[in-house]
Amino acid sequence: MTNEILLERAEGVLTIAFNRPDKKNAITSAMYQAMTDALAQAHDDPGVRAIVIRGSAGVFSAGNDLDDFMKAPPTGEHAPVLQFLRSISTAQKPLVASVAGVAVGIGTTLLLHCDLVYAADSATFSLPFTQLALCPEAASSLLLPRIAGYALAAEKLLLGEAFDAHEAHRMGIVNRLLPAQDVDAFAFAQAAKLAALPASSLRVTKMLMRRAGEQEVAERIEEEVAHFGKMLLAPEAREAMTAFFQKRKPDFRQFD
Ligand code: COA
Repeated sequence: MTNEILLERAEGVLTIAFNRPDKKNAITSAMYQAMTDALAQAHDDPGVRAIVIRGSAGVFSAGNDLDDFMKAPPTGEHAPVLQFLRSISTAQKPLVASVAGVAVGIGTTLLLHCDLVYAADSATFSLPFTQLALCPEAASSLLLPRIAGYALAAEKLLLGEAFDAHEAHRMGIVNRLLPAQDVDAFAFAQAAKLAALPASSLRVTKMLMRRAGEQEVAERIEEEVAHFGKMLLAPEAREAMTAFFQKRKPDFRQFD
């Protein structure tokens, strides 16, 4: 068990909260495992009728822990990050995200698997996969062009630059923007509203909306992971991550 993921139950809502603020809620293998276990328990527990995923004060998540990426690259079939992606992308109960601050990498792509996303108007988002010499994950290469259109998806996924909450809202990955101090309470209230509705009706409605893309999403997650795993072991990614910790710009000119 890790205390870097906090679980709380109230009013039929399970809240899964990142709790590693000193590292901007960067997600380690143990944290992915804890979230996967929580989603599995929520699936089996009729008392959980909606799920909230949130960060800590003013921070959603800085994405995958880069130190973990370097020391224990998640390349295997049973890698906790892959288990997490499989479970969040197939969750049957409604998922509500509360993004009170920075959301990087999987901190942004996991939102594509949530049903309702609320964000602080000061939140920032980024998909810096190419900057890290990696490629998209979480089926974002499929879902982002579908949600935001190719032009915007290409800009965000090829350049990897951060974008603000207003742009995320216009792109369709965020439902509503709120003052930072109100986001968690609003997201919880929306989840509590869902929890008071008939679970069977929510389940069928979500299933009908998601079914058409289900197979494609599952296949794309695996396809991306196959590329991602190889790229993670390549010297370009090592250089990018070493540069991050050395607080310098990476130098990709040494590679073909
Ligand atoms: N993995 C591991 N450690 C991370 C991290 C990550 N993804 N993101 C942040 N941290 C650590 C920093 O190394 C720093 O640790 P230190 O205090 O021991 O030096 C601490 O968290 C605070 O981060 P810092 O960069 O000082 O905060 P900031 O407010 O200036 O910037 C971010 C926040 C999220 C924009 C920036 O940390 C960042 O770009 N992180 C990397 C994001 C990333 O590339 N994620 C992977 C995507 S696939």
